[in-house]
Amino acid sequence: MTPEGKVAVVTGAGSGIGRASAGALAKVGARLLACDIDYESAQQTVSAIERNGGKAFALHADVSKPDDVKRMIDAAVSRFGGLDILHNNAGILSGPRFPDSDPSCWMRAISVNIMGVLSGIHYGTEAMRQRGCGVIINTASISGLKPHFSDPVYAATKAAVVNLTRSLAFLKKEANIRVNCICPGFVRTDLESHSAAVLDPEAQRRFRSRRAGFQDLPALEPDDIARAVMMLINEDGLNGKACIVEPGEPWRVQ
Ligand SMILES: NC(=O)c1ccc[n+]([C@@H]2O[C@H](COP(=O)([O-])OP(=O)(O)OC[C@H]3O[C@@H](n4cnc5c(N)ncnc54)[C@H](O)[C@@H]3O)[C@@H](O)[C@H]2O)c1
Repeated sequence: MTPEGKVAVVTGAGSGIGRASAGALAKVGARLLACDIDYESAQQTVSAIERNGGKAFALHADVSKPDDVKRMIDAAVSRFGGLDILHNNAGILSGPRFPDSDPSCWMRAISVNIMGVLSGIHYGTEAMRQRGCGVIINTASISGLKPHFSDPVYAATKAAVVNLTRSLAFLKKEANIRVNCICPGFVRTDLESHSAAVLDPEAQRRFRSRRAGFQDLPALEPDDIARAVMMLINEDGLNGKACIVEPGEPWRVQ
């Protein structure tokens, strides 16, 4: 699908990968609904898009709440007339390591990383069926394809996103909707600080001490992932696939 003139919704659009994806879509002429739990940051993304001549609108939405996700899809339809592209991108790390972590940590990660994607697809496909076509991109992770010993719950949620994506391949034949996901390696973003923000000071200390040294690893930039997202949107032959993007390596689609 060529994104020019299409209506796109990006979740977690206030930072990192979501902001880069929103910017890339707007740059090629998509009309953008930039959603985030942090409205101010979504608004900043919109301001940057508008400064570059793009068309975008900011919305507060917490993807862990199905009603918020429904409101988000409804907003795209009422404001722009429909929905063509949905990037389910919002996600968080789970915090202190499972199984010692508090249930609230893993419930939150499951709510945002899995329930958020399920709600997006549920309400998003409803709107896309009205259009007769659509493209959905889910942000998974390389951690969804191999063990991630420092955050097993995060790995489990991202594995769920990968297999959900692959299991929805039937939607192309049934409704002309393609679903693919991206599996990035380490990307330099504020994921860690955003994920830790809700933890109490002791949980933050344990979480941060385990992730010490991560910032020294070879890393991707959000724009690298946005390029892969655009490829998955543009390539009509790709459906039910995971695109792996790791530092220093060619993309692998499987
Ligand atoms: N940074 C990495 O190394 C990396 C690697 C692989 C996958 N990912 C995935 O990429 C996605 C984006 O992460 P990022 O690295 O850009 O992090 P980020 O923290 O910079 O951006 C995530 C955005 O999502 C928003 N958000 C968090 N919870 C939300 C909710 N409940 N509802 C709506 N918005 C919410 C945050 O406010 C933030 O603006 C996530 O799904 C993450 O798991 C990141």
